[in-house]
Amino acid sequence: MTFSKDALAGRVAIITGGGSGIGFGIAKAFASASAKLVLASRNEERLQGAVEEITEMGGEAIAVQADVRDYDSVARVVQTAVETYGGVDVMIANAAGNFVVPAADMSPNAWKTVIDIDLNGTFYCARAAYPALKESEFGGRFIAISTTRALEGWPGCAHAGAAKAGIMSLIRTLTGEWGKDGIRCNTIAPGAIGDTEGVKRIYEDAGRKANELSSIPLGEFGKTTDIANAAVFLCSDAGAYVAGADLVVDGGRNRGRASPIVSVPGK
Ligand code: NAP
Ligand code: COA
Repeated sequence: MTFSKDALAGRVAIITGGGSGIGFGIAKAFASASAKLVLASRNEERLQGAVEEITEMGGEAIAVQADVRDYDSVARVVQTAVETYGGVDVMIANAAGNFVVPAADMSPNAWKTVIDIDLNGTFYCARAAYPALKESEFGGRFIAISTTRALEGWPGCAHAGAAKAGIMSLIRTLTGEWGKDGIRCNTIAPGAIGDTEGVKRIYEDAGRKANELSSIPLGEFGKTTDIANAAVFLCSDAGAYVAGADLVVDGGRNRGRASPIVSVPGK
């Protein structure tokens, strides 16, 4: 299923971590819906590959190297977008880092690194993009990619769970402060999305894949297109009245965790 070719026509979108996984999935869907793209992350070579793929499919995109832990670096991404395309209508804070380590073994720097990328990086994206988003003729959109695991305990990922929960709180505050400027702030909370670095690290390499799969009522991992479709919806005119939401896209895991049907003796 795809949206109409002009669903995001005229919009300029920045996507951090837009060169891989979920971020690249969003980039391709946005290009198909006619948005102009600015992809930002640390690995310039990978970003250039993503830009080439988008150009080959008829889209328009540029790459800007940036580390979201550095506010000036994020501000340069926004400045480049404004200089290249004339403004910014959408900022998607998707960049993140995560790895499995029990809290008792987690070094202070391991904790700080993930908080810096996920939570501080998301605030820097919001703060740097605000003046441009405020000027958007479509009503600016700020989207942070969270996770359903932020809503529960997340053994092995204390740093990422706390960061993503902080992001959810931040979105609620920004919704209250920036609604008057026409800026719609939302999170998308994915469940486990297949063929991504996230699922590889957190479920496959950690030996938790079968367990995780069995807890998903729809019985399979999601696809990057599932998250991309949610993002196109929120950033199109169809999503104009959605603000302060956590759009959960997880095959039902969070609300209806699957469990085997137990047969009751005598019935
Ligand atoms: P991924 O491909 O590894 O995406 C992470 C991206 O963030 C990469 O493109 C990486 O690019 C960028 N990045 C990391 N550190 C950065 C930094 N300091 N500055 C700038 N960019 C940085 O993994 P993914 O699984 O698609 O994850 C994407 C998002 O979805 C994350 O927010 C993640 O928490 C969320 N999520 C994923 C799942 C899942 O099942 N995969 C589930 C829930 C939520 P560079 O290496 O080039 O910097
Ligand atoms: N287990 C325990 N600690 C770990 C770790 C692991 N698997 N990986 C990194 N760390 C620790 C390091 O030991 C270091 O702490 P120390 O100084 O006390 O030794 C700290 O975390 C920072 O690691 P470093 O490798 O210097 O960070 P970086 O800035 O180069 O990279 C990461 C950031 C660690 C988040 C890296 O995994 C990354 O770039 N991730 C992006 C992709 C990703 O995570 N995708 C999934 C998204 S859900």
